[in-house]
Amino acid sequence: MTVSLRALSRENVRTVCDLRVAEDQRHLVGPAAYTVAEGHYEPDAVLRTIYLDEEPVGVLLVEVESGTPYLVRFMVDAAYQPRGVGRRAVELLAEELRRDGWASLEASFVRVDNGARGFWRRCGFQDTGRTRHGEPVFVRAL
Ligand SMILES: CC(C)(COP(=O)(O)OP(=O)(O)OC[C@H]1O[C@@H](n2cnc3c(N)ncnc32)[C@H](O)[C@@H]1OP(=O)(O)O)[C@@H](O)C(=O)NCCC(=O)NCCS
Repeated sequence: MTVSLRALSRENVRTVCDLRVAEDQRHLVGPAAYTVAEGHYEPDAVLRTIYLDEEPVGVLLVEVESGTPYLVRFMVDAAYQPRGVGRRAVELLAEELRRDGWASLEASFVRVDNGARGFWRRCGFQDTGRTRHGEPVFVRAL
């Protein structure tokens, strides 16, 4: 199983827009199509498709305007959870941001029982004690 991060393209954009989380995860993350659209209007955004082998299975969007890169969106299609794809994608993103000279990455999440808190902790993120739009902000050194 090989996970990679790739650019959006005319070949994969419809598949990426159709990616879905589970019904009971819909309140946790914006729709993939919104992420794709917003990524095109966010200055200096990092918008990547998460591939499992040759299949687009997720999407992520990082804002890099505030001094620390911030993961605005991160999702893996329900059919491809939980097989380690998300964690590997975080590692690949960390490598890419480190190569670009960044020292840390922030993420936030909806504070509910089935939210992504445990996932971020598994990926090495720690609580900053700050919130963003009411969501706890976690950070990881790169
Ligand atoms: C959160 C999400 C990206 C995780 O992707 P994934 O590919 O299923 O996760 P992985 O298989 O790589 O999981 C890595 C580890 O985190 C754990 N984990 C995954 N999701 C978790 C969750 N919601 N709560 C607690 N632990 C979780 C896994 O059990 C695994 O643990 P391990 O170290 O014991 O093996 C995916 O579930 C998703 O898209 N969720 C809906 C959208 C969302 O919440 N996005 C985050 C927005 S901030």
